[in-house]
Amino acid sequence: MTERAERMAVLLDGKAVSEKVKAEIKTTIEALIKDGKRPPCLAVILVGEDPASQIYVRNKVRDCEETGIISKKLILSESTGESELLSVINGLNADDAVDGILVQMPLPKHIYERTVVEAIAPSKDVDAFHPVNVGNIFTGFGTFAPCTPSGILKLLDEYGISVSGKNCVVVGRSNIVGKPMAILLLQRNGTVTICHSKTKSLSEHTKNADILVVATGKAGLINGGMVKEGAVIVDVGMNRVSGKLVGDCDFPSCEAKASYITPVPGGVGPMTRAVLLCNTLKAYTNR
Ligand code: GUN
Repeated sequence: MTERAERMAVLLDGKAVSEKVKAEIKTTIEALIKDGKRPPCLAVILVGEDPASQIYVRNKVRDCEETGIISKKLILSESTGESELLSVINGLNADDAVDGILVQMPLPKHIYERTVVEAIAPSKDVDAFHPVNVGNIFTGFGTFAPCTPSGILKLLDEYGISVSGKNCVVVGRSNIVGKPMAILLLQRNGTVTICHSKTKSLSEHTKNADILVVATGKAGLINGGMVKEGAVIVDVGMNRVSGKLVGDCDFPSCEAKASYITPVPGGVGPMTRAVLLCNTLKAYTNR
């Protein structure tokens, strides 16, 4: 074996792990139906015609179909008013046949996202964006954790990577990924640093990471010179560069240093989708 080959990082195969998670969900739902119970139901709302959102919604519906979850897709026009959207959400909140509600973001500019997030019943909030669920994550209680951070932990678990006592560096502080990721790593007894666009000497922090999670949306922000030998690298980025999908980490140079690394695509993305299904099943079970 060449020296290069010996240092190859193990790929954290989110696609394969997500298939396993989906197969488990499918088996659970088949058992429910055998018992004469109804399957879980996820309502997905898309407002407008954002092409990326259309693809995300289509994939979510397909994931539901694959596992036996009923999906209810509601496509509303770009011109839908905030009050109209809120009344659709209220209808779904009151509908006993609906377990989970997801409003695809981003919403058109004239709709205030926060109002919409707060309108979803916390018990049906499978994204875990509602302030009640965010508070529950912060204190370590509650049902749902947001899909991407939760999917990342599932992926680490699958490869036997423990967090306890490790230096965990999260680059990015979004409400969807960075902040909840940091809290979930803290709950696993990681020593957590959050870096962001105003962080000075980013590489001084990233070089210290045993587990590095990067979620900035900036292609190539992290290169191999910025990471510790043997680090676990989780790349949440999904950037189109010259038509190619790439992460926030320069893959060849990071892979050469890492012990484990997620590919883009095929790493974090499929795990996010799988956790949405897990959260829908949890919402159903908790009713
Ligand atoms: N848009 C991009 N990511 C997400 C997500 O995780 N949930 C929702 N609702 N919208 C998104």
